[in-house]
Amino acid sequence: MQTIRRSYLSIVLVVVVALLLAACAGAAAPAAPAAPSDSAAAPEAATTEAASAEAAAPTGDAIPIGVAVAQTSNVALFGQEQVLGAQLAEQYFNEQGGVNGTPIQLVLQDTAGEEAGAINAFQTLINGNVVAIIGPTLSQQAFAADPFAEKAGVPVIAPSNTAKGIPQIGPYTSRVSAPVAKVAPNALAAALKINPEIKKVAVAFAQNDAFSNSETGTFQNAITDTFGLELVTVQTFQTTDTDFTTQASNILNAAPDLVVISGLAADGANLIKQLRDLGYTGLIVGGNGLNTANIFPVCQAQCDGILVAQAYSPMLDSAVNKMLVDTYSGAQGKTPGQFTAQAFAAVQVIVEALKAVDAKTPLKEMALVDLRNALNAELLSGAKYDTPLGLISFDPEGEINQEQFYVAQIKMDADGANGKFELLK
Ligand code: ALA
Repeated sequence: MQTIRRSYLSIVLVVVVALLLAACAGAAAPAAPAAPSDSAAAPEAATTEAASAEAAAPTGDAIPIGVAVAQTSNVALFGQEQVLGAQLAEQYFNEQGGVNGTPIQLVLQDTAGEEAGAINAFQTLINGNVVAIIGPTLSQQAFAADPFAEKAGVPVIAPSNTAKGIPQIGPYTSRVSAPVAKVAPNALAAALKINPEIKKVAVAFAQNDAFSNSETGTFQNAITDTFGLELVTVQTFQTTDTDFTTQASNILNAAPDLVVISGLAADGANLIKQLRDLGYTGLIVGGNGLNTANIFPVCQAQCDGILVAQAYSPMLDSAVNKMLVDTYSGAQGKTPGQFTAQAFAAVQVIVEALKAVDAKTPLKEMALVDLRNALNAELLSGAKYDTPLGLISFDPEGEINQEQFYVAQIKMDADGANGKFELLK
């Protein structure tokens, strides 16, 4: 619980900084990015002690599992939720006896928000003899860092990489994060259910981000081919942008009935805020990059009404999900989101696969290289895992098999201070 409390404090700090930045930005100016500056943070930070304050060398017999996600930079708006989910899983499964009596120990390594930081974190964990790595946060980082784990024969569970092509990086890469093709179009269907009169759709996406490119491809195909709607404009931006006046003006000029945005949290939420501030009143669909309550301090009251497809429901009626929701809510005062639940599931599948491996050959008798290979083979065996995401398994390539998806709509309080993701029926 100590580490969970420390992480909670970190999140509070991020949110406070975000609020201060937003306040400094003033009403008329574009809202500032929502977290500590991402620019200088990234690559070097990943190898410093300060950047991975939670990292600890495995002690005694504990089985080390690497967690390489963004604890700093704007990408920490996702990464902080992932750390909480992974730590809850560590605590829970250790209380249940770990791996047939042997505890697991998470080894956290900050990737920050760039590719170089993810590569550094992966290399540190690979050399630190972890049995597997959970991470990185972004698909953009995964395409750069996962090949290092592939080369070293270290299983990777992607906790949040939703771009097309992640499991195909190689035989050691699997994901618990369902791909955009399965998840994203559900939000368009929900928008049409709310407003069947939608005909004209505007799209905006972050050009410099692999996931955003993948997701907008899915969205654009679904808009024109699946739903027969008119794509009236496609606007591009960078994940580092803070001024979206041009894109917002172009969208307004195209007079769409629906705007669909694929970006990350700070940029996507800033675009939405500025679009609303300029007068757009129609529906907005946000992609997976907007699937965190950490966007609330950025778009504030203007987050209200955003539709976001979900690969997780806090309402899922299962023992493990109720435990996650109760424990998380007790500590955080809110329900967990998709990033937290997926990180929990990533730890869970590794623990349960290790149990199965250990039942065949005691882990203590295995060389690390054999253990990593046996773990990967077990993960890809098709075994089912009863996680907070529901019953999941991996196909032979490492793609997740998951049955249920959902759509949520953001509801903000009138003052924009608090909000929640409300699942649509
Ligand atoms: N889903 C986002 C990605 O894949 C976070 O990069």
